[in-house]
Amino acid sequence: MCSSYIAGLKPGDVFCGYVRVPSPAFAPPADPATPLILIGPGTGIAPLRGFLEERAWQHANGTHVGLSQVFVGCRHPEHDYFYRQEMQAWEHAGIAQVHSAYSAVTGHPARFVQDAVAGAADTVWQAIQDGAYIYVCGDGRRMAPAVREALAVIHRKHTGSDDEGARQGLAQLEADERYQQDVFA
Ligand SMILES: NC(=O)c1ccc[n+]([C@@H]2O[C@H](COP(=O)([O-])OP(=O)(O)OC[C@H]3O[C@@H](n4cnc5c(N)ncnc54)[C@H](OP(=O)(O)O)[C@@H]3O)[C@@H](O)[C@H]2O)c1
Repeated sequence: MCSSYIAGLKPGDVFCGYVRVPSPAFAPPADPATPLILIGPGTGIAPLRGFLEERAWQHANGTHVGLSQVFVGCRHPEHDYFYRQEMQAWEHAGIAQVHSAYSAVTGHPARFVQDAVAGAADTVWQAIQDGAYIYVCGDGRRMAPAVREALAVIHRKHTGSDDEGARQGLAQLEADERYQQDVFA
């Protein structure tokens, strides 16, 4: 809707809108070697795709880039999997490891991205230990809290902490700008 509207504007037309400035900036860390955990079901992949494009460009130009653990979710891989070919190419290039959730494929190990995060718990924890930055984009009503709980479960499992310890651990990651969310409700 917005892109069609903007495409129809003519020079001199007035466009009413606002620029939302997220805090922190929801931008990838400055060091391209920093590993990433990117969680973006549905349209949530949009900004994360930009991160991956930049990393792919850096990689192609000889810069060492950290591995991205990418969690994507859609209904069916043949119907609504956004940028599937790009995901495959980034995996092939060795810059990303893609974990998919399919909500309409019976028997697939992960229905939603939070299930895929839980299924890759050890990989996710290792990435966090290696200094990964976590970015979550998409639905803020149900998906983002469920992802947070999946991360809390991983934290509890690997540290032996209780609920409060996990809450503080995630809060510290946020304070360090290593856990960022750009979500809509
Ligand atoms: N307000 C904004 O800023 C904004 C921005 C972007 C998009 N949107 C709107 O959002 C809608 C699209 O939503 P979407 O991009 O999230 O994609 P979506 O296509 O609705 O959902 C993507 C995947 O997430 C699954 N899902 C459903 N409930 C979930 C949950 N509780 N936790 C995790 N995953 C869950 C869906 O499964 P199911 O098969 O169960 O549905 C589907 O597999 C559109 O209407 C779009 O216009 C709004």
